[in-house]
Amino acid sequence: MFKGKTYIITGIADKHSLAMYVAKEIVKHNGQVICTGLGVSQHHKNLSDRAKSFLHKSYSLFKESVEKELGKDVETHILDVTLPESIEEFCSKLKAKNLKVDGLLHAIAMDKTIRNKIVKPLLEVTFDEFCDTMEVSAFSLVSITSKLKDHSLLNAGSSICSLSYIAAKKVTFHPYRNISIAKAALERITIELADELGRQNGTRVNCVRFSPYLGSKAGTATLNTSDVDHAANKSPLGNANPQDLAYEVTHLLRPDMKITGEIRHVDGGYNIVG
Ligand SMILES: NC(=O)c1ccc[n+]([C@@H]2O[C@H](COP(=O)([O-])OP(=O)(O)OC[C@H]3O[C@@H](n4cnc5c(N)ncnc54)[C@H](O)[C@@H]3O)[C@@H](O)[C@H]2O)c1
Repeated sequence: MFKGKTYIITGIADKHSLAMYVAKEIVKHNGQVICTGLGVSQHHKNLSDRAKSFLHKSYSLFKESVEKELGKDVETHILDVTLPESIEEFCSKLKAKNLKVDGLLHAIAMDKTIRNKIVKPLLEVTFDEFCDTMEVSAFSLVSITSKLKDHSLLNAGSSICSLSYIAAKKVTFHPYRNISIAKAALERITIELADELGRQNGTRVNCVRFSPYLGSKAGTATLNTSDVDHAANKSPLGNANPQDLAYEVTHLLRPDMKITGEIRHVDGGYNIVG
């Protein structure tokens, strides 16, 4: 299905990341992946020792997980979407190697207003917190895509997919507040880019809302077991699992499809219930 095709996979923290399931599915169907992870780059300035150690650890775990799950030959790069120079460097490196890509998985999110599973009320969220979450979790889809395009790295007919959650649309039993707004922006960006990039390059852009999933670092940081159980009980089919998500994302990333600007659900039907 993906023979001769190459996809950029962002958002792998470890083997439990949703992005890893997608990457494995692409590799299983003979596609190539280029994986990006957080790490210390020359563009980081004035990093505290704590931040440096966090980024070093993040990169080792990311690289080790990619090698183990996807193979030693898979390209890995540092990419921090808060640094335009990091996105530029990543794209320049691909260009220098004469690499072009057939798609991108955006699986990046961060919200510092959720701490120890406790969500800050929206009325207490500062402008900086709002902008940080928006930059990392939503605008990064624009910033990565536009740099790929500037460097002519996106093949005609390529496909982009991002990951969202039902909280982009409605207040859920576990209200996410600040990140919900960023997810809503991510979904709207998906639709606007689908129009722009479809006309310019035949590129498709879609987004998938997924069930709550405790397995990843992001999931563990934000969810309680009771949240996951609640969604499972409410969903006609129970919660979807990461492999279900990988099937849908790879379907959307497949070459020669005509689906674009969609906000899909892989959630066991949670979204249809009251
Ligand atoms: N876990 C869930 O319940 C769930 C449900 C629906 C959607 N999602 C979405 O799926 C995506 C992947 O999440 P996950 O559950 O696999 O968790 P994860 O923790 O494995 O992935 C989040 C990724 O974001 C990356 N990231 C954070 N800040 C970054 C930055 N500045 N630059 C580059 N990368 C950065 C992290 O390194 C990490 O790899 C996210 O968009 C998340 O919102 C998750």
